[in-house]
Parts: sequence; structure tokens; C-alpha cells
Amino acid sequence: MITSLLTICYLIGSITFILGLKMLGHPDTAKKGNLIAAGGMAIAIFGTIFLYRENGSSLHNYGWIFSALIVGSIVGTLAAKKVQMTAMPEMVSLFNGMGGACAMLISVLEWSHLHETAIVTEAIGDLPKLYIQSEQINHLQILIIVLAMVIGAVSFSGSMIAWGKLAGRVKDFTFKGQQYVNLLLLIVLVAYIAYFSYVTPSSVSDIPLNSVAVDETLINAVFTNFHSYLFYGIIALALVYGVMFVFPIGGADMPVVISLLNSFTGVAAACGGFLYDNPVMLTGGILVGAAGTLLTILMCKAMNRSLINVLLGAFGGSASASATAQTGGAYKEITLTDSAVLMTYAKKVMIVPGYGLAVAQAQHVCHEIEELLQEKGVEVKYAIHPVAGRMPGHMNVLLAEADVSYDKLLEMEQANEEFRTTDVVLILGANDVVNPAAKTDPASPIYGMPILEVELAKHVIVNKRSMKPGYAGIENGLFFEPKTSMLFGDAKGVLQKLVSEIKEL
Ligand code: TAP
Repeated sequence: MITSLLTICYLIGSITFILGLKMLGHPDTAKKGNLIAAGGMAIAIFGTIFLYRENGSSLHNYGWIFSALIVGSIVGTLAAKKVQMTAMPEMVSLFNGMGGACAMLISVLEWSHLHETAIVTEAIGDLPKLYIQSEQINHLQILIIVLAMVIGAVSFSGSMIAWGKLAGRVKDFTFKGQQYVNLLLLIVLVAYIAYFSYVTPSSVSDIPLNSVAVDETLINAVFTNFHSYLFYGIIALALVYGVMFVFPIGGADMPVVISLLNSFTGVAAACGGFLYDNPVMLTGGILVGAAGTLLTILMCKAMNRSLINVLLGAFGGSASASATAQTGGAYKEITLTDSAVLMTYAKKVMIVPGYGLAVAQAQHVCHEIEELLQEKGVEVKYAIHPVAGRMPGHMNVLLAEADVSYDKLLEMEQANEEFRTTDVVLILGANDVVNPAAKTDPASPIYGMPILEVELAKHVIVNKRSMKPGYAGIENGLFFEPKTSMLFGDAKGVLQKLVSEIKEL
């Protein structure tokens, strides 16, 4: 009865997780989807705490379990409430690292568990004798334990470095031949995994099993292979590999790396689900692993870069600052009044939001301008680049926060078709995603990345605070085009003043 109840809890957990993930795909249902998945997970967690039985007895250590749950919930809730939208990738990175650490610790525990249950002592006469139970040890089980441990450790240390880089606490670090060192580390790790999962169980199975008492020294000799210093050596190596893997990757590529590490954590959690025969962990892990992988591929595609190029390219941040193009030249500025007139008397205005809009938290006043212009008969739409901002869907989430109607958001391809019939493009804190060098300059680090072709419109107004480059660290030729006018200032302040100007017209 209790086991069936637990199975039902796991079933609810798995179904709600799938449902929640599906609902996260649309802004209208995302919030509800998140709550449904979290509710299902809570049922699975409390089901495990109260209904799980091992050899007929329930879990103990409730004090520890609930203390950890309470502390974790408080820290998680406060952190999620406090975090700025622009710092979300940092938070995802931190949480992902914790997931990796959990997978690693589960493997460490499972390892000692396996070691303990593999040897049984039995008193024969006066002498205690040791037996090995062969059914406790098999290649697959050990492979899964070591894989979960290695992948979890890489994900943990890699995510910590990614978090440090995004928070500006860790600088890019590269040295000559680093890629070879990383490759060597990876080969050693794979060799270690193979050794543990294949060599060790074979040597164990050479010993007479179950019924025959064997010599303690023989068992100890065999278990030297299992033994801690090698096992913990792999953990140390995997942690070092995670650090070395993320260190050389450029700052602008961190969101891609975080998504990749997220898929690693999913795989490590799925290994845990396999070990414990736990369907929720298995389903959750597989879905997170698959979603992370798909997201990584989509992000690479949106930037027209291969994953290898992302991992080895050192794109963005300080590494690419030296790649700054020398476009230079003269640019012209526009006043707030002229901008207001241009937009108010336009037929169609397209707003291009970017990272700067998120930094300024100007989404609400941006929505106000959209409504004001619409009242005056102007058609207003938003052009959304898939990697505008610092995380997938950043602009969609930002604008949804300000209640911008979802049908006003055009995807890049759609927007590029509409720019030709647009009178004014208002760029708000976007830079790389409208940089024509991506189409025209093969030497540019963003060459090949699909961009919003704003230059097809009649007028382009660019709002940013200065002529400084965007995340890729390269200058933008668009700012020097004859049809472009710069409207300098913090996005929020500028938009607030624009609202008053438009109201007066
Ligand atoms: P960016 O190219 O980073 O440009 C943002 C611009 O906003 C800057 O040039 C900055 O200029 C301006 N800005 C900053 N604060 C502002 C404020 N308070 N008010 C007004 N303007 C402000 O942004 P983007 O065009 O959105 O491109 C995103 C970049 O991130 C791309 O390179 C993309 O490849 C990369 N990336 C994104 C993702 C995802 S998934 N979104 C993943 C990986 C990489 P000033 O300093 O002069 O104001």
C-alpha cells in the first residue's frame, strides 16, 4: 500500500514536470507551468521522505532533512526575490552548480554504500569471514556512479567559474597550449571511468562468491582498486577539469556555457535516478539534459556559431576587446523633441529592445510609449532578436513583465520582412544584434550571426548612453550611417522624457 502511494507520488511528480516544461514554452502559461512543476516536485520529495521504505524501515534523520529543507527554501526564495533580471544568468549558473554538486555527492554516498554492501561478514566458528556478494556489483552500476560523479563535479566547478565570470569576480584565463592540457585531462578522466567501471568489477568477480569464504587479505587486495584514494582522485580531477573547461571561454559566451553545463547536470541527475530506481529523478534529469542540449544548439544557431567555436573561440569580454573594429567617423545626434515628432507622425514604429533596456529597467515606460503612439494612430511593434540581452527569451520576459501584448513581438525573420515598410526604428540599448558587420565584415568576431536589418527602415534612432561597444566588444557601423541618429542617455530617463514630449504633441 505504502509503496503504491509512493509510486503515485512519483507519477504525479513526473507528469507535472513534463506538463510544467511544456507550459514554460509560452509567456501566458509560463508562471502556472512553473508552479505546477514545483508542486509536483514537492509531492515527490515529501512522498520520498515519509513513504520510502528500505528493508521495511522508513527514513530517519528527520531533523537533518527538515533543517536542510528549511534553510534551502529560505535561501532560494530570498535569492530569487532579490535577483535582478539582468543577473538571472548568474543565478541560474549558481543553482545549476548546486545541482551538479548534489549529483556528485549522491555518487560519493552510493559508492561507499556499494562498498559496504559488497562485503558481508559472517562468523564461522570463532573467526569472522568475509564474503563478496557479486550481485551487488556490476559494470553498469559502477559506470553510472562514476559518470554521475564526474559529470556532476564538472558541472559544479564549471558553473562556479561561469558564475564568477558573469559577476565580474573571475577574469578570463588562458595560456598557450591550454586546449591540449584540457584534452589530456579529458582523456585521463575517460580512462579512469573505463578503469573503474570495467576493470574493477572483473577482478572482483574472479573471487569465489557467495557461498565460499575467502581470505580477508585477498578481498582487501581487490578492494584496493575500489579504494578511496583513487575514487577521490577522480573527483579532484573532474573538479579541475570543470574549472579548466570554462576558464578560457569568452564572457559573451557564458550563457551558452551555462546552458551546456545545465544539460550536464540533467544527465548527472538522470544517472542518480537510475541508481536509485527513482522515476522522478530519471524523468527530470532526462528532460533537463535534453532541454539544456536543445537550448545550447538553438543559441549557437542564433549566433551562427558552432559549439566548438563557442568552446574554443574566446569570444566577447576582455578577450575580444582587441578585436574592436576601427569604424569611427562622424555620427549625428537627435533631440528628444525631434525624436518625439518623428515617431508621432510615423505610420509604423518598430522598437528594438536590447540588453540596455533591461539594465535601465525601462520596460514599463517603454510600454507607455507604445500605448501613447498607438492612441495617436501609429502602428507599434517590437523586433526581438533571439540572443538580445543576456539569456534566452530575456526580452520576451522583460516585456511580458510590463504587460506588452505577446502578439506585438515579432521574431527576427518576421521583423526583417517588416523593416522595409517601417518609418522609424527605435533601438533601446541594443548593439551587437543590429551590427551590420555581422553581414559585411568577414574579419568581425560576430560575422555570420543573423541580425535585425534595421537599416532597411526609413529612420533609425539609437538610444544608448555613449559610443561604447556592446558585449562582443566591437564598434557598430550602424551608428555612423546617414539614416541613423543617436539619442544619448539612460533608457529609462530618455523614455520618460519622450513620454512628456509625445503627450505635448
Ligand atoms: P549588447 O550588444 O550587449 O549592447 C547593449 C548596449 O546597451 C550597450 O552598447 C550599452 O551601451 C547599452 N546600455 C547599457 N546600459 C544602458 C542603459 N542604462 N541605457 C541605455 N543603454 C544602455 O546587447 P544586445 O544588442 O542585446 O546583444 C546581446 C549580446 O549578448 C550579443 O553579443 C549576444 O551574442 C550576446 N549573448 C546573448 C545571449 C543570449 S541568450 N541572450 C547568449 C550569449 C551571448 P552604452 O554603454 O553606451 O550605454
